[in-house]
Amino acid sequence: MSINKEDKILIIGAGGQIGLELLEELNKIYGPSNVIAADIRSSNAFSQNPFETLDVLNAEALFNIVKKHGIKQVYLLAALLSATAEKNPLFGWQLNMQGLFNVLDLAKEKHLTKVYWPSSIAAFGPTTPRVNTPQYTVMEPTTVYGISKQAGERWCEYYFNKYGVDVRSIRYPGLIGYKSAPGGGTTDYAVHIFHEALEKGVYECFLGENTALPMMYMPDAIRATIQLMHAPAEQVKIRGSYNLGGISFDPKTIANEIKKHVPSFSITYKPDFRQQIAESWPQSINDTEARQHWGWVPEYDLGKMVQDMLFHLQKEKSVK
Ligand code: SER
Repeated sequence: MSINKEDKILIIGAGGQIGLELLEELNKIYGPSNVIAADIRSSNAFSQNPFETLDVLNAEALFNIVKKHGIKQVYLLAALLSATAEKNPLFGWQLNMQGLFNVLDLAKEKHLTKVYWPSSIAAFGPTTPRVNTPQYTVMEPTTVYGISKQAGERWCEYYFNKYGVDVRSIRYPGLIGYKSAPGGGTTDYAVHIFHEALEKGVYECFLGENTALPMMYMPDAIRATIQLMHAPAEQVKIRGSYNLGGISFDPKTIANEIKKHVPSFSITYKPDFRQQIAESWPQSINDTEARQHWGWVPEYDLGKMVQDMLFHLQKEKSVK
């Protein structure tokens, strides 16, 4: 492992679905005073950490924050997700790409030693083999979000090859957690379903019942992210982005799993524009390279994830 606990870390998009959970884990490793939270708006969740209001498109403001705190590592999590970016394609492209360039350029100029940037299963497209999708395959994404992720992967590798930037990346599947809310993604149903099951006992799903997608429980995703960032540089042989496999299921299957714990729960289906997006993505992921290069092993299967999600959400709701 290569950890420098003195490094100052900046999380951009700290208030988002991944940011909030990553902040909590990085606090445990580096201590809250070494983890600087940045987001376009403030939140109570950052009470332990230094906080900076930041629009990642403002390169000068970003540079000033990096200098002010002596930041060495950046986790860049600010982005428009798949469904939101379809509604505002040019802004989605601008935010996702220019934000990445602003951070990569700081690393190119040696202000940073390490960068984390997430890619996604959305970087694949309808011509990609959909089952057990390999690391290297046809990639013709059809969403703005997916196009920005694929292009971003190429740029990350380019900055590594040309300028020696230590950038690391994972192609996340849909992420499911109880601590933070998702926003604007096609896989968000797999989080909403839990809240609605407990609050209302019914859920109307915006994807069809047989629409299988690759998913992952948040503790696995956060563990993978930190494991990749702590891996010795020579183990990180892929500088585009790593496939990461977790669980694969469709809405009907997760609904049945929830019913084992909430017998009265029922689901209905009303697919909308997100159905087409979901159908352009893989159903399951082959992550051989992540396993071989830096020792990735997922911990949660569907049963274990559903049980843990319901346990924590029920606990939260009984406290309220
Ligand atoms: N979960 C994301 C989305 O649905 C994919 O990376 O947009």
